Amino acid sequence: MTMKTEATTDLKSGKSPKTTADYAKYFQPPSLKDAKKRGKEEVKVHYDFAIPEDMKDIGKGKRYYVRTYGCQMNEHDSETIAGILQQMGYSPAEEAEDADVVLFNTCAIRENAEDKVFGELGNMKRVKNNNPNLILGVCGCMSQEESVVNKILKSFPHVDLIFGTHNIHRLPVLLRDAMFSKEMVIEVWSKEGDIIENMPKIREGNIKGWVNIMYGCDKFCTYCIVPYTRGKERSRRPEDVIAEVRELARQGFKEVTLLGQNVNAYGKDFQDIRFGFGDLLDEIRKIDIPRIRFTTSHPRDFDDRLIEVLAKGGNLVEHIHLPVQSGSSEVLKRMARKYTREHYLELVRKIKAAIPNVVFSTDIIVGFPGETDEQFEETLSLVEEVRYDSAYTFIYSPREGTPAAVMEDNVPMEVKKERLYRLNELMAKISLEQNQKLHNQVVEVLVEGESKNNPNVLAGRTRSNKLVHFVGDKSLIGQFAHVRITDVKTWTLHGEIVTKVEV
Ligand code: SAH
Ligand code: SF4
Ligand code: F3S
Repeated sequence: MTMKTEATTDLKSGKSPKTTADYAKYFQPPSLKDAKKRGKEEVKVHYDFAIPEDMKDIGKGKRYYVRTYGCQMNEHDSETIAGILQQMGYSPAEEAEDADVVLFNTCAIRENAEDKVFGELGNMKRVKNNNPNLILGVCGCMSQEESVVNKILKSFPHVDLIFGTHNIHRLPVLLRDAMFSKEMVIEVWSKEGDIIENMPKIREGNIKGWVNIMYGCDKFCTYCIVPYTRGKERSRRPEDVIAEVRELARQGFKEVTLLGQNVNAYGKDFQDIRFGFGDLLDEIRKIDIPRIRFTTSHPRDFDDRLIEVLAKGGNLVEHIHLPVQSGSSEVLKRMARKYTREHYLELVRKIKAAIPNVVFSTDIIVGFPGETDEQFEETLSLVEEVRYDSAYTFIYSPREGTPAAVMEDNVPMEVKKERLYRLNELMAKISLEQNQKLHNQVVEVLVEGESKNNPNVLAGRTRSNKLVHFVGDKSLIGQFAHVRITDVKTWTLHGEIVTKVEV
């Protein structure tokens, strides 16, 4: 097999490991100790990405298929991967079975996310048997984990290529290596690289677009694998972000979502300018694009400047995803979230005062190691107090290499499941009550397409990101419509069109 990891001295000296046993020597597992040694090296921004000349036509007449798992960050990375492959001449395939290159862009956030990938990788064995020339690659967050790479080496030898989150720009070269090598090609960089600006992107649709404002995460919540799989926080230069949003506006996109694991930390890594997330939004809101969203905001860095800018409204929508994780200050401390229940509630109060019609959503983990019944009750009472419109709720999943993985976990799985059930019941009740406030109201809907289950019905979203179904002409897709809400469900709203509104 061909192996390269940039973090190892042996590899710098040019020696290549040849066996699985060698591999263990060369690969740097995610380690809190090493990962925390970050922040010293300056991050460079590169504007000179190009597909190597000899690779430009290599995909002519061939097809690719990318299967994406995980968060919006990964969805957006897959758009870059598609952009690179199309510049190499590949065209998209509808199914993995019809493709010459299949890439799995994976997520490592919870064990069940990983199990799903392993299951589907197993199924690819049959596809590969039918088409031995197929190149099967694994990338994304799972590739950054040593245990995963070892498992693929051992149990999924039909994989041809593994690369990580920091070297997507190397895809053309790696693909060539994989085509001409009889062995598995593995290139995972344990440390983040520089920012590569001008990689091509093939976006999903032309209504809503994602724009990265920063990469990585320095928060090190004790349960979370992301700081290891995505590296240290690196902000894109404001002028590059603004130029990309302007370009999407020019192309007629109606909505942009600014992406980062912790967007409120935007700009903290700039050495030469003081320019934070509030400043960035204050510039972006002046761009002629109807809706601007962002995700995810960490409560810790949500400052007054940001609240002041958000209160200006306009194209900045009044929906804030503000993951709380737990309502217990004691649990939050063990999670290293660096805020207390009181600090969080105070922040929510401040935001509600500044933006009266604001809608909150959140992420919550139940069954964190040592979480007591009382501490879980505190989560329920916080949910009642904030009254989120929606929540992503999870059972804690230990991630190898993170500090929480070695904490004593004395909460039985049955109890965790019961807590998740109770939380979800409460959230469903509150979501329905929040939605009922919209009954008979007229809302602005950005029409995204046909409803999944009924092609005669259109589906779109409100500024607060609620899904609305209504009967209307297909010409409305990509446009704004005013819809009167006539029927309210827990997860969806149904309505009737009032007028078509051009924005
Ligand atoms: N950067 C974002 C979260 C990204 S991960 C933030 O901090 O807000 C999305 C969500 O997955 C997290 O908010 C958390 O609720 C959940 N999550 C992360 N690690 C987890 C783990 N080990 N077990 C269960 N849920 C986890
Ligand atoms: Fe994970 Fe915490 Fe970073 Fe979010 S802020 S990605 S939960 S470490
Ligand atoms: Fe998953 Fe990586 Fe996103 S672990 S949630 S794909 S940053």
